[in-house]
Amino acid sequence: MGADDAKKRAAFAALEYLQDVRIVGVGTGSTVNHFIDALKSIKARLDGAVSSSEASTARLKALGIPVLDLNAAGELPVYVDGADEANRRLQLIKGGGGALTREKIVAAVSKSFICIVDQTKLVEILGGFPLPVEVIPMARSYVARELVKLGGRPDWRQGYVTDNGNQILDVHGLRILDPPALEQEINQITGVVCVGIFARRAADLLLVGHEDRVEKIV
Ligand code: 5RP
Repeated sequence: MGADDAKKRAAFAALEYLQDVRIVGVGTGSTVNHFIDALKSIKARLDGAVSSSEASTARLKALGIPVLDLNAAGELPVYVDGADEANRRLQLIKGGGGALTREKIVAAVSKSFICIVDQTKLVEILGGFPLPVEVIPMARSYVARELVKLGGRPDWRQGYVTDNGNQILDVHGLRILDPPALEQEINQITGVVCVGIFARRAADLLLVGHEDRVEKIV
């Protein structure tokens, strides 16, 4: 059994938390793609979904699930999304797929944030996965220099443009011992749109897919 089966197991386990939900927030990535597939079985009772990326929007629409504007939808009961790394305090690194800004917005307006990962994503200390930082293009070099001062090695994700028309720096070499503090510090660098640390608004429930079960961490 591979990581993809474990992702699928975690994704389908999230359905249990959607029993009275009419509008669901939907993240981005291969784990979330399994979750979107799982939504097919309950789509008749959904009014729709709020999507965090153009890629998820296309997949939702292909299944016939209406995609709603977040401004019209208001507060969401549940948001389901994956992560690149997670710790047992439910703090995350996200943005490997480049959708971190919209993901953070949807997480912010959701009452409950359910994160679905396979067991390989669970770590003691965040930072082994290069930390994505979305930047305004003209600020890229400045932000990179500031990130070096914080001990990181930023690498420009060349040729990649986010859904918001911005660029991404992937920051290597960080051992993130205080995720909320570093999230705040990087947020304050002028030109940063969003940092992929999700700690000030962490997940509420982590569903970790293992080979034979789903572990729930709250
Ligand atoms: C996208 C994300 C994804 O949740 C993250 O990259 C995990 O992806 P996958 O489920 O494919 O491993 O943050 O911006």
